[in-house]
Amino acid sequence: EKDGHDWFMRKEIFEQPRAVADSLIGRRGAGGLLQLDEMRLADEEIRDLDKIIVIACGTSFYAGMVAKYAIEHWTRTPVEVELASEFRYRDPIVDNTTLVVAISQSGETADTLQAIRHAKSQGARVLAICNTNGSSIPRESDAVIYTHAGPEIGVASTKGFLTQLVACYLLALYVAQVKGTRYGDEIDEIMQQLEAMPDHIETVLESADAIYELARAHVGARSVLFLGRHAGYPVALEGALKLKELAYLHAEGFAAGELKHGPIALIEEGLPVLCVVPPRGRDQLHAKMLSGIQEVRARGARTICLAEEGDQAITPYADDLIRLPQVPVLLQPLVAIIPLQLFACELATALGHDVDQPRNLAKSVTVE
Ligand code: F6R
Repeated sequence: EKDGHDWFMRKEIFEQPRAVADSLIGRRGAGGLLQLDEMRLADEEIRDLDKIIVIACGTSFYAGMVAKYAIEHWTRTPVEVELASEFRYRDPIVDNTTLVVAISQSGETADTLQAIRHAKSQGARVLAICNTNGSSIPRESDAVIYTHAGPEIGVASTKGFLTQLVACYLLALYVAQVKGTRYGDEIDEIMQQLEAMPDHIETVLESADAIYELARAHVGARSVLFLGRHAGYPVALEGALKLKELAYLHAEGFAAGELKHGPIALIEEGLPVLCVVPPRGRDQLHAKMLSGIQEVRARGARTICLAEEGDQAITPYADDLIRLPQVPVLLQPLVAIIPLQLFACELATALGHDVDQPRNLAKSVTVE
């Protein structure tokens, strides 16, 4: 049942190329136009949207952070991303020109369910991104994009996360199509880039052994930091969450630009810092990340850098280097998170922890 793997989680990590491919199937209807699964929202309503609020918890929340970068860039619609447990209790400003997007793998998370009930009571329209057919959250929503990860057994989400990212990109493109903020051929091009992602993920999975070795070399670590920028920032947060959940290690993700505003004080000799390096050629992003990496390294950090193939500028600053395929910055989370999942899984295994059933955690959190 684990296909020869020691853990369901490891099996699920390796199922990600398929899960991503499955989540892209059947999205194009007549004339190549994107279509969503259950859409009880008129085009009119989408055109009239003033803002989108994404609500979710945990890993799903990090998918929501990536969604913000994609939706705002492709649709010019303002997006807020909020933890479901905070949303409801702060008297949020929502009305019938607000689309609330609830992301939930299980579809049963109580915080998220309560948040959509509140949003609906204020007149908002609700779209669910969910992996579980017929669960409570999609049932109570106006529209649904189902992810096709298949059942996820490992408590820590992996393929669930990747398929949520895919659904977020699809939603962004769909809104762009309806609002007319992107031309059809631009949408086609991004769809093709998405359709190439399963092969890219496969390529990253081929370096699993090297990542495992790296993970085992960090068994003695007491704390691990993760740095990212732009769409790599939520990846850093998700990488840190995986390590907390599985290895019970102190792990924290930071936006690289925030380092100098405080966190750099944490850097000490030998502290492992995993750095998600954005692709080159995007404004100042790559150069800024590089200087952040230099700063932590100059203070003794041991840098483990995830950088795209062909990025030579990173080499002098990386104590260890993991190569990623060349992909656009907005889609990079789909490949960049893979090494971090493998790292956490292997480190936890080396520490003797139960990777599939981490202590204190449940797969579905049905209490607020
Ligand atoms: C972390 C993890 C959790 C869930 C969170 C929301 O690995 O799995 O953080 O992402 O509990 O769960 P869903 O997506 O089912 O609402």
